[in-house]
Amino acid sequence: MSRIAYVSGRYVRHRAAFVHIEDRGYQFADGVYEVVAIHNGRIVDEALHLNRLARSLGELKIAAPVSERVLKLILRRVVELNRLRDGSLYLQITRGVAPREHAFPLTAQPQLVITAKHAKPVDPDHETEGVKAITIPDIRWDRRDIKSVSLLPNILGKQQAKEQGAYEAWQVDEEGNVTEGTSSNAWIVTMDGEIVTRPASTSILNGITRIVAIKAAREAGMKLVERCFSVAEAKAAKEAFITGTTSLVIPVTQVDDQVIGNGKPGSFTLALRELMIRERDRLQ
Ligand code: PDD
Repeated sequence: MSRIAYVSGRYVRHRAAFVHIEDRGYQFADGVYEVVAIHNGRIVDEALHLNRLARSLGELKIAAPVSERVLKLILRRVVELNRLRDGSLYLQITRGVAPREHAFPLTAQPQLVITAKHAKPVDPDHETEGVKAITIPDIRWDRRDIKSVSLLPNILGKQQAKEQGAYEAWQVDEEGNVTEGTSSNAWIVTMDGEIVTRPASTSILNGITRIVAIKAAREAGMKLVERCFSVAEAKAAKEAFITGTTSLVIPVTQVDDQVIGNGKPGSFTLALRELMIRERDRLQ
């Protein structure tokens, strides 16, 4: 069965899905995106993702190409056409196609593109052994809360991680505090059993998985604080982990050369992961 993509009003074969060379997403990274998980054919945390999308668009003054009601119908249709049970949708909105000029074009129509992906089986080692994170300076702009398609620092960081045998790179601000991963939010558990993650601000992307995990942890009576933590604190932590849409919760068992805790995924991390899986299944 061929994969089907949505490109500004049309459902087309993935292989034949193109945008114009003067799309501002292509020329200026002038656009925003979302990645939503599909579980048992349903869109996970749809309302939270659509809220964040509307916020990103608003911050960049890009008009929504379709209403939320229509967008929901299109998302469902893409899931259906791809017979997607478990996987993800990538949704991108750019300011549109116009002759290259920095200022906003007067007439361009925002372009909406959606692609579907069947889930890759998660590497079982990630869950049982955990992953390594390296630390790198955060060289991004000041509006990391906007889910912009402009991801150069993120891809350079991820590539560096890969070349150093790590799964993720934790970006570090000028005060020595961890902001977040290149495609995930960063968490630690202190020796006192307190779960810590950086508060939402313009310094990080407020991950949907982050929001859901905070709620789940609090409801389960876990101690959780939203505050900054330093690289030194992370290296001395009992546990560490990352959160993101496609992988939920992944234990981090090494930061740079420092093994975290006993080098195995920790009990808080695994408990939170379990809670998240149960919550996701409950909402189906
Ligand atoms: N990345 N921080 C950054 C910089 C991210 O790119 C992401 C998600 C997250 C986690 O957000 P969420 O829980 O909403 O997935 C945090 C997506 C999945 C990506 O770029 O592919």
